[in-house]
Parts: sequence; structure tokens; C-alpha cells
Amino acid sequence: MPRIARRSIAIAAASLLAIVSLGAQAQAPIVIKFSHVVAPDTPKGKGALRFKELAEQRTGGRVKVEVYPNSQLYKDKEELEALQLGSVQMLAPSLSKFGPLGVKEYEVFDLPFIFKDTEAFRAVTEGKVGADLFKKLESKGITGLAYWDNGATHMTANKPLKNVADFKGLKMRIQSSKVLDAQMRSLGSIPQVMAFSELYQALQTGVVDGTESTPSNIYTQKVFEVQKHMTLSGHGHLAYAVVVNKKFWDGLPAELRSQLEGAMKDATTYANAIAATENATALDKIKASGKTAIYTPTAAELNEMKKATSVVHKEMEARVGKQMIADTYKAAGYSLSK
Ligand code: LMR
Repeated sequence: MPRIARRSIAIAAASLLAIVSLGAQAQAPIVIKFSHVVAPDTPKGKGALRFKELAEQRTGGRVKVEVYPNSQLYKDKEELEALQLGSVQMLAPSLSKFGPLGVKEYEVFDLPFIFKDTEAFRAVTEGKVGADLFKKLESKGITGLAYWDNGATHMTANKPLKNVADFKGLKMRIQSSKVLDAQMRSLGSIPQVMAFSELYQALQTGVVDGTESTPSNIYTQKVFEVQKHMTLSGHGHLAYAVVVNKKFWDGLPAELRSQLEGAMKDATTYANAIAATENATALDKIKASGKTAIYTPTAAELNEMKKATSVVHKEMEARVGKQMIADTYKAAGYSLSK
């Protein structure tokens, strides 16, 4: 073949390749990496998968959601940093984990016994307090999309926890919240902040003696295998803020963003609807394992615990904000004297 013909064929082939790869680029989906620290089989884990399904469906595949559960990609503290850096686009950290980011007001949700039930909790997240807290994330480069519930938290240890005196001297794993720290101290325990991914091993090796969490987390992280006792104290409430990298979110084509908002709205309804039954089922499974004795405290025992931990509400005013606490009390229908 003459040289000139060979050259034209080579040029044509190169242009074809360029066109094909440009086309592929134009069609490459936008990827949302959604990282979280719990098991897939939990209210949050299932909520994330539902969002993936709806988001991919409604955007006709223009958006691909990759869900990374179980701290596979990042642990607690790292995941918020990764979100700010844009290494992941979406997270759902528990509300107790926003303090280290500089938004201490989120710790209002950790005040002991503040929510009498899920309705009281939702009245706060779905009202002005929930919206105000999301606004506070904007300056951190984060946009809040939704609140997802888990449920009431309970205490576990290797000894029965009935009276306040039983907590004395116990090393209790907590999330990175100063309010949770104060709560454990008010019971005479020694709080230890630790990543969720390290909890099982820390309990197994005796680095900590006990912890607090929901049945769903206690079951799926196998905490029940290394804790002989669980007291249904219901003193706290575990829930999440689904958050995205603001720059990424604002940069999305408006049509896609609104499809994703719709997907998030429906995934939120789903996640919140399954939370209570997921926890009830997990509690049944813990019972059935025979490894953890489950204790329901008497009214007097609960009152003793409430009284001991009530000091935390005043103590944390300076950190969380007096007004924030007052607004939360009002929305939740709580009064400290009750
Ligand atoms: C914890 O660290 O105990 C929880 O925040 C884990 C979770 O995300 O439910």
C-alpha cells in the first residue's frame, strides 16, 4: 500500500478512536460515592441502598451511586474529612459526630432522655431546629439533605447495669460527642471516644468494658457476642444526617439534582419507616442468641438514671447553646423537671 494511503488510514483510525472515546466520556455516569460505617442490614444501610436504587432509576443511569458500608472506605472522623475534600460525595454520619467538625450544636441530640419517643425526635429534625442545623453545615462545604432515624440507645456491659452505682469505673465507648462524654461521667463511668469500626475488638479485648447503641447496631456489629448484659435504658437517640459535598451538589445539572432530591425524599421515608421494626427484630435476635441477658429497668431505676444524668443538660449549655437547647425542648415537648 502506498505510504500516503497508509497515513490516511492511520489518521482516520485515530479520529474514529477520538470520537468513540469522546462519546463514552459524554455518557460516563456521574458517580456518587456514599460511604457509611454500619452494616448493610440496618436502617441506614438499607436506606443507602434504597437511595442508590431510586437515584439510578430516576436519572436513567446518568448517576451511579456506589455505596461503601461498614467503614470499608473511611472510618468516622476520616469520612467527614473525605467529604470535605471531595473524595466521597455522600455520607450519613450520626448527629453525634458533627461536633469535631466545629458544629457543636448537633450535640443537643445527645442530651440524656431528651426524646420520650420517635415522634418527639422527629418533631425536632423536621422543624426549625433541623433546618437551622443544616444551615450551619454550609460554611463547612457541606449540604444537609435529610435526617434518617435509627432509634433509642441502650447500655451494655459485662455486668448487670441496674443502678447508677453499677456504672462506676466502667470504661464506656462513646461517639465523639462532649455531651455523651458528660453523660457517661455523670454516671461515674470513664468515657472513651472510639471509631465505630473498632468497637467490637475493643470490647473483645477489654480495652473498653461497655457501650451504648441501638439493638440494630449491637446485633449487626456482633457486640452481643462480647457483652453479657444489656439494659433497655432508652436514654439516648441515635440518628443521622445525610450530607453531601456542597460544591459537588451545587455543580450538578438542575434536572439531575431535582431527581436526586426526589430519590432522597423517598429513601428517607423508607429508612424512617423501617427503623423501629429493624430494631425490634434485632432485639429479638439478640435475645434468641442467649449470649446477652436483656434487662428492662424498673421505673425507680430509670428515674435514678434520669436524675443522675440531668446535670448534663445545664453543664452543656455553654457548648450546645442555651437557645438551641430551649428550642429543642420546645419541639420535643421536654422539660427538665419532668
Ligand atoms: C456509632 O459510632 O456508634 C454510630 O454512630 C454508628 C452509626 O453510624 O450508627
